[in-house]
Amino acid sequence: MPVITCIDDLKRLHKRRTPKMFYDYCESGSWTEQTFRENTTDFDRIRLRQRVAVNMEGRTLATKMIGQDVAMPVALAPVGLTGMQRADGEIKAAKAAEAFGVPFTLSTMSICSIEDVAEHTTKPFWFQLYTMKDQDYLGRLIQRAKDAKCSALVVTLDLQILGQRHKDLKNGLSAPPKLTPAVIADLMTKWTWGIEMLQTRRRQFGNIVGHVQGVKDTSRLGEWTAQQFDPALDWKKIEEIKEQWGGPVILKGILDPEDAVMAKNVGCDAIVVSNHGGRQQDGALSSIRALDPILQAVGGDLEVHLDSGIRSGQDVLKAIAMGAKGTYIGRAFIHGLGAMGQEGVATALEVIRKELDISMAFTGNRDINAVDRSAILVPEGFAGRWE
Ligand SMILES: Cc1cc2nc3c(=O)[nH]c(=O)nc-3n(C[C@H](O)[C@H](O)[C@H](O)COP(=O)(O)O)c2cc1C
Repeated sequence: MPVITCIDDLKRLHKRRTPKMFYDYCESGSWTEQTFRENTTDFDRIRLRQRVAVNMEGRTLATKMIGQDVAMPVALAPVGLTGMQRADGEIKAAKAAEAFGVPFTLSTMSICSIEDVAEHTTKPFWFQLYTMKDQDYLGRLIQRAKDAKCSALVVTLDLQILGQRHKDLKNGLSAPPKLTPAVIADLMTKWTWGIEMLQTRRRQFGNIVGHVQGVKDTSRLGEWTAQQFDPALDWKKIEEIKEQWGGPVILKGILDPEDAVMAKNVGCDAIVVSNHGGRQQDGALSSIRALDPILQAVGGDLEVHLDSGIRSGQDVLKAIAMGAKGTYIGRAFIHGLGAMGQEGVATALEVIRKELDISMAFTGNRDINAVDRSAILVPEGFAGRWE
């Protein structure tokens, strides 16, 4: 058993154990990958204060996200094709999140369906919605999430159209993979992945195949997705979705203060400051840089979460100290899943919990709810002065 000390250890194993096309799908950003890179390097620019002779006993990371109890302010982000990183990946990740006491968010583009994940978990999870042109399908999808007792709808706003990731085109990304000679050669070195995948029936987009007329297999799915994501999404449609859902709504993919104000006016329960992990608008600001101006624009009336670039508990601490109420991890838990399945996701969460706990203590804090700007050192002009 390898000794896992950090998310990078899991990332190395993920790369070794998962087919190249799925590892690359995870570990890439759009176009030049500038925003993908800066999501992590900008976290490094913020420093943590170190305080001494402060009682460090009785620490707690427990808090709330949208009024729901969480063991630490870290949710699992919605990640498409999670069930291709490891067989039954969404079920495994949801179980690990449930055992840990943090929210799991199921992507619309998951392999395991809403019903499948609900059947294998005991606590409610969150469902992430992509808005589609097919209103009939959209309505049924929302109803299915209601029936599964999902406790929040996370509506993603930054993927009406797709940013290009070069590697996905070069690798011929598909689910399940098409067996070209290059793919077969790669799979020969990833046999555990293959054996597990042969043992599951979950190898297609579970929320779509069989639920949309005319989509019976994935060969037509790429075409369908490109046609179906709604490029005409606007705030009025978001309001309609909110009405239809009737429960807590989180709007994901906000990067601009003006949009944050619009989201606040719609009356959502929280926003996620996010650039989709650098997978959409290349050249956009990193999330951690975008956070402060957004917090100022919404003025404390709206719960603000953040994702993109979090690879450690120190990063979580920096986001919380900057003013986010909660965070999400995408690649950090996928590395765990690809490395070691459900146990790997649990390990990723434990790595982050420990880093967060110890780093928080060194800033002189014992309760995550009391952490504020005094815990960090932010370089002058960090948010940038843009014209
Ligand atoms: C492989 C992959 C697939 C993703 N699929 C989705 C998705 O289906 N829906 C969604 O809202 N966001 C999706 N995202 C974005 C994540 O929810 C999240 O915003 C991002 O991963 C955060 O950045 P991080 O990976 O640096 O933590 C995906 C991200 C990755 C890496």
